[in-house]
Amino acid sequence: MTETASKSSSRLVEWMRPRRRLIGWTALLSVVAVVLVVVLARWLRGTPGGEAFIADYPGIVPPPEGTPVGIPAWLGWQHFLNSFFLLLIVRTGFQLRSKQRPPGFFTRDNTRWPRTKRAPRRLGIFLWFHLWLDAFWILNGAVYVVVLFATGQWLRIVPTDWAVVPNALSAALQYASLDWPTENSWVVYNSLQQLAYFAIVFIASPLALLTGLRLSSVWPPEGALVRAFPEKLARAVHYPVMLFFLGFVFVHVVLVFTTGALVKLNQMYLARDADDWLGFIVFALSVVVMAVAWVLAKPPLLKRIAAKGGTVRG
Ligand code: HEM
Ligand code: HEM
Repeated sequence: MTETASKSSSRLVEWMRPRRRLIGWTALLSVVAVVLVVVLARWLRGTPGGEAFIADYPGIVPPPEGTPVGIPAWLGWQHFLNSFFLLLIVRTGFQLRSKQRPPGFFTRDNTRWPRTKRAPRRLGIFLWFHLWLDAFWILNGAVYVVVLFATGQWLRIVPTDWAVVPNALSAALQYASLDWPTENSWVVYNSLQQLAYFAIVFIASPLALLTGLRLSSVWPPEGALVRAFPEKLARAVHYPVMLFFLGFVFVHVVLVFTTGALVKLNQMYLARDADDWLGFIVFALSVVVMAVAWVLAKPPLLKRIAAKGGTVRG
């Protein structure tokens, strides 16, 4: 274990010690809650009403005419880059939230392009990195949305029929009863998947951007825009949005790995509908790339890169 890793795990132990009872009770109650939900869902499914509901709303809305079939290679690339940037965005987010003193401070050189009227604000190195990652993440996301609409691929993740609501309920009931809805993500996502993908792309991501901009120095320091959107509100939303991202990714990845992982990894990482191990190998390589970035993206290297655009102290 590296020194920082052992430091952060001992911090975790420190944090847990006085909360032992609370953690124990929370774990116990969570298990009880899960069991109750499963029993309730199984019972509901067995009633005539429940059976009829699932027969009427199987959990999937048939794709509209003209919806493309398959996951194209460009989508695979964007999906990978999205995970790559988000990993480091979340890490720098936690570093910012920990309020530890950053191991360096950056001030942009304002005699060079892009020159601004306002003097540059001094940034901790973690915030400097957070903002660059955000810029790349947003660029990747903007390309994704443009191509999504240009290719008709949007029809797969944007609901176009209110039937998505009862079908999502039905899919939720089926997941909860542990008798999962069948789906074929090459052709169509089930309604719950569709709503989750829609929410992360078209609600959570814009919220992260808007609240992040509010907290950054691009937002004007005074005037109507400041009153219209208080900084406190932005701060109160930015962090829960990250928790939403983490919750989404956890459930998303667990489901990918429990519902035909080899097929799905081929679909997303190699743009093909097959059930051999190739997609898994590409996925594993992508994890290696992320791990290498994680190890390299430490203050010494970050400070050296930041120094190319200004002065770095501390
Ligand atoms: C590295 C771990 C990840 C794996 C293995 C993974 C895997 C997959 C797979 C196999 C699909 C195809 C659809 C399906 O079968 O459900 C998919 C779709 C999708 N994933 Fe992920 N994913 C990962 C991380 C993420 C992250 C971090 C996000 C965003 C926060 C994300 C957002 C999405 C979205 C929005 C779609 C639908 C894309 C579309 O069809 O336009 N995934 N993912
Ligand atoms: C998309 C553009 C984004 C921008 C422009 C942005 C900008 C910022 C800024 C300026 C701060 C520092 C706030 C301060 O002064 O204390 C910050 C903090 C933070 N960011 Fe972002 N961010 C963005 C996206 C994200 C995303 C996608 C996540 C996580 C998924 C995230 C997680 C965090 C967290 C956890 C903090 C610490 C907040 C706290 O102390 O409560 N950010 N961000």
